[in-house]
Amino acid sequence: MSTASAQTVRFDPAPGGLRGTLRVPADKSISHRAALLAAMTAEPVVVRNYLDAADTNSTLAAVEAVGALVERRAGGELVIRGTGLRDAQELDGPIDVGNAGTLMRLLPGWLAAQPGRSWTLDGDASIRRRPVDRVAEPLRLMGARIDAREGRFPPFTVHGTDLLGIEYALPVASAQVKSCVLLAGLTTADGATVIEPAPSRDHTERLLARAGVPVEHDGARVTVRHHVDELELDAIDVPGDLSSAAFLVAAAVLVPGSRIVLEDVNVNWTRAGFLRILERMGAIVLGDLEEAGTFAPVEPVTELDVAHGPLRGTTVEADEVPLAIDELPLVALLGCFAEGETVVRGAGELRVKESDRIALVVAGLRGLGADIEEAPDGFVVRGSGSLRGGRIASHGDHRLAMLGAVAGLASREGVEVAGMDAAAVSYPGFAADLATLLSR
Ligand code: S3P
Repeated sequence: MSTASAQTVRFDPAPGGLRGTLRVPADKSISHRAALLAAMTAEPVVVRNYLDAADTNSTLAAVEAVGALVERRAGGELVIRGTGLRDAQELDGPIDVGNAGTLMRLLPGWLAAQPGRSWTLDGDASIRRRPVDRVAEPLRLMGARIDAREGRFPPFTVHGTDLLGIEYALPVASAQVKSCVLLAGLTTADGATVIEPAPSRDHTERLLARAGVPVEHDGARVTVRHHVDELELDAIDVPGDLSSAAFLVAAAVLVPGSRIVLEDVNVNWTRAGFLRILERMGAIVLGDLEEAGTFAPVEPVTELDVAHGPLRGTTVEADEVPLAIDELPLVALLGCFAEGETVVRGAGELRVKESDRIALVVAGLRGLGADIEEAPDGFVVRGSGSLRGGRIASHGDHRLAMLGAVAGLASREGVEVAGMDAAAVSYPGFAADLATLLSR
């Protein structure tokens, strides 16, 4: 179940900049949740603009494997006929989560609540390095049995039961773990409360609220109560993905002459940390962003209008990390072009993403000429206003592949990205979208 990333693609400096208007692909996080919640619903759910990428296709295959019927209609629309909250079906072999950490950590929350049934989850070489003890621990406290390789890695088996309610303080801020516990709490008499060390993305809570589940917030505590026997969802519209947009935004900010508009981008406050970091760095990025503290069952979207401009260094502290977690590699790249130092700390979580994103970002950018130091929980970049270029490898990590591409456009000599095909995990049309913006 491992994927070799073999394709090498060269990205040369872009003299005229990026120009034009584009719709970025659908949000990966929200697509995963839409498919899972639809599968947990007894009535059919229409999902519009579902992300067609490797990760989210793994989720569709997984929900089909446990009994949901997925009808693919024209225009990226899906109709998912789920099993209801308590009727996920067992299967003979393992569920293949591919490269998808979100699927691996959310699905067990639902499966653990199915008494007397068991499922084994496994995935690619990257997934087998990613810890699952963080979801196994709260699920065990709720009464489920989880057997994992070496106690903490995939493949792992979830043995479902009638779960108990829980109040759980997360050891690390993680939307995946929070979501797992909240989904598991749906079938318990007392519900589930999660206490977060710092806010993380709240897409699960918003969708649950849409589905009729009472979701209560009290400071750092979020609680779901078992007030419904079945979820009530009829349609979900998936907005554009800010994490995918971020690569185009960074390219436009860095390459002289650029001006781009990205439509329908999700700007949920708990996701938009990258835009606030960019603002501190002095970047020209206009859009109608969500206010802090907003909680609505809908996802806010805006048009982002981005232009090239100078940058200054900034510091990203631990509390901001979960709000921009997948964009931190881009902050390192932006830091290379900024005046002064750019520091990211409290981001040890980056080491357990699709790759060790501290070690590989630092080594990768240094190989392109960056002045960057690794720390146990982040990095320090000293900006020099430009980047030489060279060769970088994705190591099968989609976000490293796209980082290399953006670095190439902004560099003096261009960048060759080995393993560019990894981008298909979240953004299969990335190179084509770049080409469109570069051809005008
Ligand atoms: C995700 C949450 C983040 C993020 C991942 C997607 C999600 O992980 O890095 O790409 O969809 O909930 P953690 O919550 O584990 O930090």
